Amino acid sequence: MKTQEVTHSMVADQVREFYDKHPYPPPVTSLDKYRARWEDQAIRRADFHLFFPDRAYQADQAILVAGCGTSQAAKYALRQPEAHVVGIDVSQTSIQQTAALRRKYKLNNLELRQLPIERVGELERSFDRIVCTGVLHHLPDPDAGLNALRQVLKPDGAIHVMVYATYGRSGIYMLQDYARRLELGHTDQEIKELAATLMALPLDHPLARLLGESPDFQRKDALADALLNPVDRAYTVPQFLEFIERCGLTFGRWYRQAPYLPQCGALAATPHSARLNQLPKEEQYAAVELFRGTMVRHSLIAYRADGSLDGESIRFDNDNEEWLNYVPIRLPETIRVTQQLPPGAAAVLINRSHTYPDLYLPVDALKKKLYDAIDGQRTIDDIIGGSAEVERGQQTDLRRFFQTLWQYDQVVFETECNHLKSTDDEIR
Ligand SMILES: C[S@@+](CC[C@H](N)C(=O)[O-])C[C@H]1O[C@@H](n2cnc3c(N)ncnc32)[C@H](O)[C@@H]1O
Repeated sequence: MKTQEVTHSMVADQVREFYDKHPYPPPVTSLDKYRARWEDQAIRRADFHLFFPDRAYQADQAILVAGCGTSQAAKYALRQPEAHVVGIDVSQTSIQQTAALRRKYKLNNLELRQLPIERVGELERSFDRIVCTGVLHHLPDPDAGLNALRQVLKPDGAIHVMVYATYGRSGIYMLQDYARRLELGHTDQEIKELAATLMALPLDHPLARLLGESPDFQRKDALADALLNPVDRAYTVPQFLEFIERCGLTFGRWYRQAPYLPQCGALAATPHSARLNQLPKEEQYAAVELFRGTMVRHSLIAYRADGSLDGESIRFDNDNEEWLNYVPIRLPETIRVTQQLPPGAAAVLINRSHTYPDLYLPVDALKKKLYDAIDGQRTIDDIIGGSAEVERGQQTDLRRFFQTLWQYDQVVFETECNHLKSTDDEIR
């Protein structure tokens, strides 16, 4: 073996040993609540069309959960009973925890293998959807991992990748460096002492906000995962996008996009709004990351660069009226607030997965009515047509409204609703 390969294999062993000892996320024994939530067909459709806007809903996908940890693969098998799910992980403890959930919930559609991502080709299978969240930044060679995943993605498949973000984690990297200098290991005693020491951290330390805000950090295993992990790197937005492209993938969308868009939130009302809007999309995302300053992870959906999908199927900026045929489907974590409203608003729309308080969307009475008419079945044209108050001359304003709903992660779209149309025709 060459020196670099030996080093990589030693590092990979350290990562495996770490996760055998500190499986993450902390093991769970009940997925009852999770199962109940995903029984809602609207949630499944929203999740599907987030990845595949221009395809009819398909329940029987082949899904790979790469670096599945203790429960993620079981969750996917539970929420999509008609799918076939394969979970792989290097950590034997994590696979055992997932196997216990498989037994408990009789998940016959779940297959588990103790296998490193870099060797995923050994499965001799390809997948409609690959999930790899919180893993690639722990690999000695993340490119080798993502390239291997790209090889087993079907040409019209989609991959969900989440990696750590550089700027928001600067406090974590300071404390990791601190721990290295003290040659801290990850025995229970050492973790306990680290937790006790962090109680004395200055209140204005860059890590202090994360420590205070994230309930995860109160836990021993989470603390070890964040501060004592043997391998952990992070990506800025440009680095992440380059990484994706280098590995033969093309950017589809951010998993939740509003935090990256200068058209959303506080930046949209600043004197820089017009200037930001003129930048290419990738530059906009990079600028917003720098402006926000505290993003701790980046999560995106990508497709094969040589495949049939890209992130361009949802268009509001061209002259044709395709957007009228889109079917809006609400994202499950959205809520509509009607109390303590800003002046002129009839409601405020919020996506509870957003962590930035400026990402709320006030709407007037007409738009509230249109929003309420979204049922996951009707096209925008139907929704607008069904509202007596809407005049045709308002189309530009309405187009912008539905685009804004999408940008703010209120809805996803099914853009090819031919199957719905034919069902309607049959009924008629
Ligand atoms: C932070 S956990 C994330 C688990 C899961 N993806 C989630 O989001 O809940 C990272 C997982 O990646 C696994 N892992 C690390 N390196 C790996 C590799 N080369 N191949 C497969 N799994 C790996 C670890 O064992 C651990 O279970």
